Amino acid sequence: MKTIKHKISFKLNGERIEQEVPSSLLLIDLIRGTLKLKGTKPGCLEGECGACTVLIDGVGINSCLYLALNVDGKSVTTVEGLASNEKPLSDVQNSLVQHGAVQCGFCTSGMVMNIHSFKDKCDDDNMTPDREEIKKSLEGNICRCTGYVKIIDAVESLF
Ligand code: FES
Ligand code: FES
Repeated sequence: MKTIKHKISFKLNGERIEQEVPSSLLLIDLIRGTLKLKGTKPGCLEGECGACTVLIDGVGINSCLYLALNVDGKSVTTVEGLASNEKPLSDVQNSLVQHGAVQCGFCTSGMVMNIHSFKDKCDDDNMTPDREEIKKSLEGNICRCTGYVKIIDAVESLF
């Protein structure tokens, strides 16, 4: 059977990408497989762990559940778009480091993207979240190492 391909055009970390993608290709596979950006992690691949979180137009989504063709015309940010050799760590990344909230690091890129999404939403709504609201915002991101307290502290310090 012939695979149907779709031509898509989107921004990835500020750079215009033109790509032909099969209908069933998942965004995580486009990012990691085709475009070779390995910072976005494959965990459960079922929408449960948050390791694969990226930003689409500034909002965190699980890239393991999102079809690549749906990023057409949108702007995608992965962890590689936050910091590089030329660009310092983001405030979220710095805060996690300073609070000792990174251990093995497997969850960290997804966690960072989700926290950016949450922080932007709070800033847009002019809201300072309490610890319960911060905990709720992290519900979709599983960390097997840190016990979460340091991550929650790191998020709290951003406000
Ligand atoms: S790998 Fe996507 S949510 Fe777990
Ligand atoms: S730091 Fe290891 S899973 Fe979170």
